[in-house]
Amino acid sequence: MTVQDGNHSAEVAARIEKRWAVISVLVVVVFVLLAAYAGIHQAVMPQGRVEITDPTRLHLSGEFVESNLGTETEPDGSVTVRAIGQQYSFTPACILVPAETPIRLRATSADVVHGILIQGTNVNTMLVPGYISEQFMRFEKTGDYLMPCQEFCSFGHEGMWGKVRVIDKAEFAARAKNGGRLSCVGE
Ligand code: CUA
Repeated sequence: MTVQDGNHSAEVAARIEKRWAVISVLVVVVFVLLAAYAGIHQAVMPQGRVEITDPTRLHLSGEFVESNLGTETEPDGSVTVRAIGQQYSFTPACILVPAETPIRLRATSADVVHGILIQGTNVNTMLVPGYISEQFMRFEKTGDYLMPCQEFCSFGHEGMWGKVRVIDKAEFAARAKNGGRLSCVGE
């Protein structure tokens, strides 16, 4: 091997290394552009579905009057849960739902921005006054799940907790027979 050969391979190595450096920078640039595009696109496009409500009149009429809060069984066998978040509690504070059943959660806030998070699930949404948040869920196992407020809503935030109690499907059906809205408050 001559000295010249040695220089040549060093040049080749440097060239290839430079090429890979350029490729890796390009990959980063492409990902940054994609992320920027996705973020800006989402920010400027209107939401697919927006439902509004008047937070000052929730208790007077409409979907979120007190007598309509809790869990309702739909004709197709699924259930709808309606709840309100307010400083510093959820109504109902204990949500009762059946296992192995599609559940639609509809909730809103009566005052400031709160959040609903059901531990151990991917249910996690903000409750914004004036807007209805909708989430879909399904529990396979019975049991209690904690439901803390996940959005700082002033000094009582830490104490704002609810609970979701999942009971057996048949037991729920038996309790739902009398109609009305179910919850596990006070149980
Ligand atoms: Cu409600 Cu934090």
